[in-house]
Amino acid sequence: MSESLSILVIHGPNLNMLGTREPEIYGRATLAEIDAGLATQAKELGCELESFQSNHEGELIDRIQQGIGSMDGVLINPGGLTHSSVSLRDALASTGLPVLEVHLSNVFARESFRHQSFISGIALGVISGLGARGYGVGLEALVVHIRG
Ligand code: DQA
Repeated sequence: MSESLSILVIHGPNLNMLGTREPEIYGRATLAEIDAGLATQAKELGCELESFQSNHEGELIDRIQQGIGSMDGVLINPGGLTHSSVSLRDALASTGLPVLEVHLSNVFARESFRHQSFISGIALGVISGLGARGYGVGLEALVVHIRG
């Protein structure tokens, strides 16, 4: 645990395409805009924030493992890995850190294969369907939880 609160933001596969990727489902905000909004909010909340996106499961796991000992919580949109990755779940669980799961779309109103999450069972909470705003709601909830 670091002196000042540090939050790791993880964006999974295909989220680098936000803005142009199926905007009717995911909205028009780009990943850079979402990260900029989170950075501003983090300053207001008085915490440090690092964002990382990868299309590669192993890179996501490596980054999560690197956060052990220096990060205080993880805000994650695992993208499609939500519905498929035991390894990502195991990596998150191994940190022992609070994890807040975010989805832009309401996954429960979509195809049935999106109704299962390997992450939710180890998450503090899940926000799904609030669009880009969900990240801000999630960050605030995570920080409030950590500060007790
Ligand atoms: C998503 C929902 C997932 O089902 C999908 O594979 C994504 C994005 C969301 O933010 O709504 O890549 O996590």
